[in-house]
Amino acid sequence: MLYIVGFVVLGATLLLWSLIRIPSDMPKNIPSVPIYVSLLGLWSDMGQDEIYERWLRRPLEKYGAVKIFFAGRWNVLVTRPEFLTHMFRNEDVYAKAGSQKKIPWSVIATLVGDNIINSHGDDWKLYTSVMKPGIQKQDFKIEPIIKKTQTFVSMLLSQQKKIGPDAGVVVNGLIQRWAIAIMGESFLDIDFGCLEKANQRIEALQTIIKRTLFHPLYFNFPLLDKFPWLFRSRKRAFAIMHEFEDLLVELVRNRPGKKKLDIAGEGAQSGALVIHIMERALHNGVLNETQFRANLKIVFLTAHENAQQLLNSTFWQLGANQAVQSRLREEVLARKVAYPTAGMLNEMPYLTAVIYEMLRLYPPVSQLINRVTVAPAILAEQIKIPTRTWVGWNAYGVQINQDVWGDDARDFIPERWGTVMTEIQAKYRREQVKGNYIPFNAHTRRCLGSGFALLQMKVVLFELVRRTKWTIDPTYKLKLTSGGILAPLGCRVIFEELESQVS
Ligand code: HEM
Repeated sequence: MLYIVGFVVLGATLLLWSLIRIPSDMPKNIPSVPIYVSLLGLWSDMGQDEIYERWLRRPLEKYGAVKIFFAGRWNVLVTRPEFLTHMFRNEDVYAKAGSQKKIPWSVIATLVGDNIINSHGDDWKLYTSVMKPGIQKQDFKIEPIIKKTQTFVSMLLSQQKKIGPDAGVVVNGLIQRWAIAIMGESFLDIDFGCLEKANQRIEALQTIIKRTLFHPLYFNFPLLDKFPWLFRSRKRAFAIMHEFEDLLVELVRNRPGKKKLDIAGEGAQSGALVIHIMERALHNGVLNETQFRANLKIVFLTAHENAQQLLNSTFWQLGANQAVQSRLREEVLARKVAYPTAGMLNEMPYLTAVIYEMLRLYPPVSQLINRVTVAPAILAEQIKIPTRTWVGWNAYGVQINQDVWGDDARDFIPERWGTVMTEIQAKYRREQVKGNYIPFNAHTRRCLGSGFALLQMKVVLFELVRRTKWTIDPTYKLKLTSGGILAPLGCRVIFEELESQVS
């Protein structure tokens, strides 16, 4: 009996050791982050900012890259701008390889599949050729975004009335419903109805999915996903991912008012949304069912979640910084309209600068490790990385680095972007090219939805400062998420309704 116990203990120790040891061919001239830092979420509720400050900032600012344990292996994490641009410009060596390549058996791979964001080579070219015209189209209708946003702001104000002027509204739930509603109308030709009605299953599933994915144990040891019969929570997690996929496909396929499929392709020229183009590609055999489903899911996820969390952070930052909120309100009220056009919003310098600054200090995608070296690589001729090493980046790290952004790098200063649109836009482009500013990534695999996301943020901020003034509930203490998308947790906001300035 003792022998058996001994063998089991020895076997388990060897297995754990093989899982957590740093491979001998990993780069020697960069430090490694202690493994417990990756596991902190198991026993602590430290936010990403605190973890970064305590364990990552110094080595990353000194060496530009570190070895870090994540998703069951050691990876190279990069923040120095010259390393970042080298990696982003050489997608043939640092190939995109998301969970579907790295951990194909896992819950997260089941959720996302092979899609336009995480694929590489011919598959990526195929998805891009189909979807890019729908995601980057110039003629997005602004009216549905404004309408949903007006409803959203009215709901925030009526919640405030309900709970009284001294308590804060917990904003995240409503923001999620707003973000899903806008994504549905602008990309999938469907009103999910989740803004006006709480607890729609498709929306409720998002909260469960986020909680399930970012569980620190499974996040770091996805090997455990191989044993759903052993871990009941994993069995449930797989079931949730399948439920989400099937429900989404069913809702989209049976959406009210769905037009007969435009097989000839006329729709592409006449304001077709990405879903119309994808349905045509499925019908014509350009995409198969699996590819269609994976890309449908990624549009749903990426086109709501990032905006959701950016708005969450904006409530916090502008609630805590009344001077910026007032200045923004002055710019907005000077327009004297309730229905701005996209052209008008894109000519508002302070509004634009506030959003760029938000994306600098609170990049929703703060850290991503989803590239693999497909050949031996030397990062900017300084760091040797062997083949089949996962490499990633930390946007928060480079964007708060004082060597990159100056002594006031950690302060929220929209004015740093400039005062007139030409100056602001030139800086926005320049900082991305240099690898200093990467909320949307940069170069070959830059976000295709950034134009839409910026417009959506401009609409919501315009409406919010036009109709409300908000402060942070004094009993709320800022706590950022500990992993995954970066955003404040449970922020509570007190709203005051303003008198309309528009006749
Ligand atoms: C504030 C909002 C958004 C942020 C912060 C954001 C951020 C990002 C980032 C960081 C990437 C690169 C991911 C990587 O390196 O693997 C990316 C890629 C992408 N995003 Fe966004 N995104 C936003 C909104 C959107 C929206 C609304 C869409 C619309 C569908 C979208 C579609 C895409 C696509 C298709 C890619 C893949 C591009 C490629 O690899 O060719 N994003 N986004």
